[in-house]
Amino acid sequence: MERLDKIISTGGGVSRSDARKLILKGKVSVNGKTVRDIAFKVDPKADEISLFGEPITYKKHLYLIMNKPKGVLTATEDKNKQTVIDLIPDELCRRDLFPVGRLDKDTTGLLIITNDGDFAHQLLSPNKKVPKKYLVTLDGEVGEELIAKFKEGLTLADGTKLSSATLQILSDLHTAFVTITEGKYHQIKRMFGLFDLGVNELKRVSFAGLTLPEDLLEGEVRELTVNELECIKNAKKKAI
Ligand code: URA
Repeated sequence: MERLDKIISTGGGVSRSDARKLILKGKVSVNGKTVRDIAFKVDPKADEISLFGEPITYKKHLYLIMNKPKGVLTATEDKNKQTVIDLIPDELCRRDLFPVGRLDKDTTGLLIITNDGDFAHQLLSPNKKVPKKYLVTLDGEVGEELIAKFKEGLTLADGTKLSSATLQILSDLHTAFVTITEGKYHQIKRMFGLFDLGVNELKRVSFAGLTLPEDLLEGEVRELTVNELECIKNAKKKAI
């Protein structure tokens, strides 16, 4: 069972506070009867819930895509710092949302946020080898000999053995695309650190077969389209 104000907010595409106002004003009915109690419990699968007389559809799971800006923590809450959850507009925000994996505070780019634990688990499971592609800006030139070393699989300074990664050096030699299939702490920075290269900028440009949409500006978030969600689900299957 779910609270009526939650269902109205998510299903009706309004903020939680607007949902409460609408309920109090008598604009919401459950199984044909007006309900003015914001905490009224409903079964979204069985009860017919209407807003302004129109039935609303409630999605159990939400799948969001964000272009994460710099300076924001990939966490659900923090006492002092802004988190990616704080950037979600009211009409898309639910208490149970969480980011799928982590990007460092200074990393930008594609981040999936959901409340579907199974979906997230599948994407993060190391044996699924879900690809993540990053654009890296370095403080020095990248030598071509790194391509083969990345491919072989690097061993980090603490002895952690990494799977094969793809390195594509761009023409200015200071930028490169790197694709990895795991997500160790500070992985990309530590990989380049082995060759005394510092990472000045890091942006995730693709995740699980989905490319960061060009029109999604830094700090913006929206629901994944059906096609985008399919694309991720297929990439998961291929990755098994
Ligand atoms: N690797 C890093 O070093 N940082 C990130 O945010 C992601 C991958």
